[in-house]
Amino acid sequence: MALLQVKDVTVGFGGVKALNGLSFEVNQGEIFGVIGPNGAGKTTLLNVVSGIIRPSAGEILYRGRLVSGLPTHTITRLGVGRVFQITQPFHGLTVRENVLVGAYFGTRKSSTSTVDVDAILELVGMDKLASRPVSELSVAMRKRLEFARALALRPDLLLLDEVMAGLAPTEVDYLTGIVKRINREGITIVMVEHVMRAVMATCRRVLVMHLGKHLAVDAPEAVTRDNRVIEVYLGRRYAERMAGTAGEKRG
Ligand SMILES: Nc1ncnc2c1ncn2[C@@H]1O[C@H](COP(=O)(O)OP(=O)(O)OP(=O)(O)O)[C@@H](O)[C@H]1O
Ligand SMILES: [Mg+2]
Repeated sequence: MALLQVKDVTVGFGGVKALNGLSFEVNQGEIFGVIGPNGAGKTTLLNVVSGIIRPSAGEILYRGRLVSGLPTHTITRLGVGRVFQITQPFHGLTVRENVLVGAYFGTRKSSTSTVDVDAILELVGMDKLASRPVSELSVAMRKRLEFARALALRPDLLLLDEVMAGLAPTEVDYLTGIVKRINREGITIVMVEHVMRAVMATCRRVLVMHLGKHLAVDAPEAVTRDNRVIEVYLGRRYAERMAGTAGEKRG
């Protein structure tokens, strides 16, 4: 059975259908990418999965259990974590305190020991910043802190919304490494991302969304060659550049 099943889900905002009969499944242990143009419904998708909004039609199952309609905190306790598109730290607190607060409010397994927090801070490369106030952090470090806060809830499924946006390539590569590492530790990941470099490096399967619908699900290499995906999202120049590098690799 798939870890996450999205079945014919529709979300309407007034006249706009942000999701329109969307279906797909995510398997345990995957890093599953979600791409598509602005307004395709990607953030809305993460919002329905995490219980922030309810679908107007369709069902979401997590470990075979119906979760659509359950409140966010219940879904969190079932093991679904989230890293938001916009970082929302507690500004008056230090880095460690921010992670602790997350662990305290969302805890679902055993107790929250400081050992866990230190391990998480080390995992995201912030152990040396533990006692710094959040206000001193760079944008890149705030992104990493969001990761740490989400990991403090010990999710089994982690939803990422454009965590690479606006970051320098070296930082993208660093975060990509973190994503791979937490996946190896057993966390399944759904990654909404525009930075194709990160998608290509991590995902085995990618869902392409357009107008709230499923346009394609395939390996990243295959979707980047799919004419429909090139048409609505990637653009011709991207496709040509990819074809060029593939040619070079083949020698
Ligand atoms: N709370 C809301 N009220 C009304 N319309 C909304 C709301 N949230 C999203 N929408 C609309 O739903 C559609 C999908 O938006 P969504 O934010 O899910 O897109 P997205 O794929 O995440 O885009 P981006 O890549 O820009 O983040 C858009 O047309 C958007 O304007
Ligand atoms: Mg979005």
